Amino acid sequence: MLTCQSCGRESPDGFAFCGACGTAFAPIAAAREVRKVVTVVFCDVSGSTALGERLDPEAMRRTMGRHFEEIRLIVERHGGTVEKFIGDAAMAVFGIPVAHEDDALRAVRAVAEIRERLTALGEELAVALSFRTGVNTGEVVAGEGETLVTGDAVNVAARLEQAAAPGEILIGAETLSLVRDAVTVEPVEPLELKGKREPVPAFRLVSVDATAEAFTRHMDAPLVGRVREQQRLRADFEGVVSERTCHMFTLLGPAGVGKSRLVAEFLAAAGENADVLRSRCLHYGEDITYWPLVEILLAIGVEPDAVIGTSPADTQLAFRKLIEGRAAERPQILVLDDIQWAEPVFLELIEHVSDWSRDAPILLLCVARPELLELRPGWGGGKLNATTILLEALSRDDCELLISRLAGGAQLTDDVRAKILQAADGNPLFIEEMLATVSEDGGDGEIVVPPTIQALLQSRLDRLGPGERDMIGRGAVEGQVFHRSTVQELAPATERDDVAGHLLSLVRKEMIRPDQPTYPDEEAFRFRHLLIRDAAYDSLPKETRAELHEAFADWLDRHATLIEQDEIVGYHLERAYRNRAELDSADPRLAALARRASARLAVAARGAKERGDTGAFCGLLQRAAELLPEGDPQRLEALFALSYPLCTVGRQEEAVAGARELVASRDPRLQSYGHLAQTIVDVYSGRFDAKRAEGRVAAAGILFTDLGDHFGLAWTGFLELHMEWMSCRAAAAAAAALRAETHARAAGDEVLATRMRGLWGMALAFGPAPVGEAVPATRALLDGATSILDRAEAQRLVGQLLAMRGEIEEAREHVRGGLEGTRQAGQFVEAAGYAMMAAFVEARAGAPAAAEDLLRRGIAELDRLGNRSYRGTMALRLADALASRAEYEEAAQWCAEVRETLNDNDLVDVISVDSLEGFLAAVAGSHTEGERLSDRAVGSAATTDFYEAKAQTYERHARTLALVGKPVEAREAAATALAIYEAKGDIPASAWARELLDSLST
Ligand SMILES: Nc1ncnc2c1ncn2[C@@H]1O[C@H](COP(=O)(O)OP(=O)(O)OP(=O)(O)O)[C@@H](O)[C@H]1O
Ligand SMILES: [Mg+2]
Repeated sequence: MLTCQSCGRESPDGFAFCGACGTAFAPIAAAREVRKVVTVVFCDVSGSTALGERLDPEAMRRTMGRHFEEIRLIVERHGGTVEKFIGDAAMAVFGIPVAHEDDALRAVRAVAEIRERLTALGEELAVALSFRTGVNTGEVVAGEGETLVTGDAVNVAARLEQAAAPGEILIGAETLSLVRDAVTVEPVEPLELKGKREPVPAFRLVSVDATAEAFTRHMDAPLVGRVREQQRLRADFEGVVSERTCHMFTLLGPAGVGKSRLVAEFLAAAGENADVLRSRCLHYGEDITYWPLVEILLAIGVEPDAVIGTSPADTQLAFRKLIEGRAAERPQILVLDDIQWAEPVFLELIEHVSDWSRDAPILLLCVARPELLELRPGWGGGKLNATTILLEALSRDDCELLISRLAGGAQLTDDVRAKILQAADGNPLFIEEMLATVSEDGGDGEIVVPPTIQALLQSRLDRLGPGERDMIGRGAVEGQVFHRSTVQELAPATERDDVAGHLLSLVRKEMIRPDQPTYPDEEAFRFRHLLIRDAAYDSLPKETRAELHEAFADWLDRHATLIEQDEIVGYHLERAYRNRAELDSADPRLAALARRASARLAVAARGAKERGDTGAFCGLLQRAAELLPEGDPQRLEALFALSYPLCTVGRQEEAVAGARELVASRDPRLQSYGHLAQTIVDVYSGRFDAKRAEGRVAAAGILFTDLGDHFGLAWTGFLELHMEWMSCRAAAAAAAALRAETHARAAGDEVLATRMRGLWGMALAFGPAPVGEAVPATRALLDGATSILDRAEAQRLVGQLLAMRGEIEEAREHVRGGLEGTRQAGQFVEAAGYAMMAAFVEARAGAPAAAEDLLRRGIAELDRLGNRSYRGTMALRLADALASRAEYEEAAQWCAEVRETLNDNDLVDVISVDSLEGFLAAVAGSHTEGERLSDRAVGSAATTDFYEAKAQTYERHARTLALVGKPVEAREAAATALAIYEAKGDIPASAWARELLDSLST
């Protein structure tokens, strides 16, 4: 049998045209498979075994035959296909061969009708049969041949049917979501179904509203945009009234773009001066030819038979006269919505009125999807009294406004908002439906295409010819933008000549539009809507997807050299692998495919690293690692390379998992990498333990020296640097940085080498090196920086040093630039840490309030990132700022908080908290305690060479001593602080230290 792509009915093999509707059959070479969402119905005759005992077998067969015949008729009338009768059950599918946007509603209407009809038939035949029915919607694979559709959705429908009581119809949750506003249901206990881990929710169908839409559109939400279109409509209507003419206004636009809504808005105002006669064409059904006409006639109290005559010509004349007669009294607006579903006879009726009405103010407001033009390419053309406009997508601003209004008080994350904006691409219906699914999931979930939208898009795709359909699938594999050569290359040789024609036709059908090509001398096309791309992609069988992705990757390597070549090729190989793996995890081709994909992604990751794009580096290298089996050496190397960058972007958890896998390795080198990775994680999670780190780092250093592993030694050096840093020994840290740099260079890792050089610069800024020496050194770093990140770090250091020289404006600019770059590089933890630098500058600018504000925001940002590495230091700086404003209470609170989680290894915090608490104690009158703590701080500070930490400690010590009544010692401490600041060349700090000294002297 051949199935018609257009009407879905069957004709015998060998027919060139459909026996039912006359559409030509395309020569179908091989059975095509598609994945699609369909609605499956199972309907079983119950009580038939008992009945079989009473009835003669022949009579029995005849009775059953009658019943099944009824079922078939009803299903087909609603556009479904009866797939098979199995024993006493019938299985029907809605959505094959051609999907409709309302397949679920059709199915539910059909089963309700079956129930009614069979009850009546039972009475007619005087046999009491009852039926159990299950309806379920879901993804299946549909092909031609024996089993028409296969998939879990089919099994669930069968199980629902088995679980139903006699006479009961049970529908699944997905079906319900698609018909929610047209049915009344009662929930039943979720069903424990064989083969299902989770209970399956099910609903008892009580009734279906025969005329309701599957889901209602909210015509009540405030309108956004559409100003121009409304003006246009109003102007044409004013013309109709003032010139007493008939005008046909056709509003075209894809599903959900807001045609009906715009019309409703227009009518709300225009309706005051005119009679509004509304009608809507139905998608399917019996006697639908004149249905919209009947609707109008009934509304104005005219008996339909009085107008609808025996011939179309009679009807046209009678209707026109009727409307003209009314128009003589008052202008008439006829709204004819959804006329893409109108029968030709009805369209001719509209054209007749528009062509022949004279001297009568009539506005024919026709609303249709663009496919109207496929049926009637000349609609409205060549008429002087006709306007046709295409309603375009809403602007981005309008969409944002709509989202805010619809979301109401609901909390939407920026991320979700952005995703909805992008996916909806200007379509308000998509926005509404997506918001509805988001609020069902609680607002933080992934954005999935709502089933209602999925059904709409699928039906659009199914209306394409098979050649167009295949081509759009190939395009979808390339992406939202695809190229002519690609679809040509990926097509079978026999179909290559048709590509140009198909592309043109797809452009006409508003599926794609020409776009800027990525490759020279190419033609590019863009899916008009990302969701269409996704729907086309989803409908491809995974096997086909895998083949196409791999073929496309090969084509790219043969034909193009793009900047992101590795990333794109890697992506397609990765998709090929994933699709294949989902089909058969034992496929022998998988391992090689995964390795190829992983290698390309790793190369792409290297590129991202060289650009300083840490976020992209992490993403790409993680994907490369995930393609390889656990414990694979290449995978483990990648996991180590990820540990530090992951920490800097605030994703320690993933770094922890990587470190764990490394430590579990049996290879001692990789195991040592694991120990280093663990240490790095400790650093970033504020759990740094100097003893543990020392042991691990020393052991790794010995092993790597033995193995001559410079890469390992570079990281060892980095951690040594960190340990020195934690003890506030800047000079030693600088030396470690230089060692690490040398090893990184020997390992060929220029990026790492440059990072280490940057850290050396940092030691210069924080340590005792005079500003005059450090400025040119850090400026040199800035000039030599090649990545955003290195540039950013150097800028920050220069900024910090300039602030010491009192060049505040320039300092601010540098710090701001550094922050920007750090953010761009995706290093959010570091970026949050910038608050301290910015506050450092503001303090020297004499703007303590600004500094305080920056610190508060920095702390909040770190909390949001769940990062503790800088938190203590930042909190103490805030406490210091508060104390200097005599906000002692809050300062003490921050100190107490830091004290609670204080890491003894983090010397800078240990010193600050002692010194601050000492001062605060003295302020509160606890002189002994104050002096004790402050003394301890000074003692610890003596071991460091961080000039600021040290000088501040002496400064506070001076204040504390003054409070406890030791002016001489106080002056001595203030003089020490001043000497340190002056040696460094920190001019603003020297000034305030001198002030302090002066105040103590008087
Ligand atoms: N400009 C707008 N401002 C606010 N909401 C809108 C706007 N346009 C449309 N909507 C909303 O989007 C949804 C879809 O609009 P509408 O039903 O008018 O689409 P349509 O183009 O008629 O689609 P179809 O072809 O499926 O009939 C409705 O709920 C509507 O209220
Ligand atoms: Mg509409």
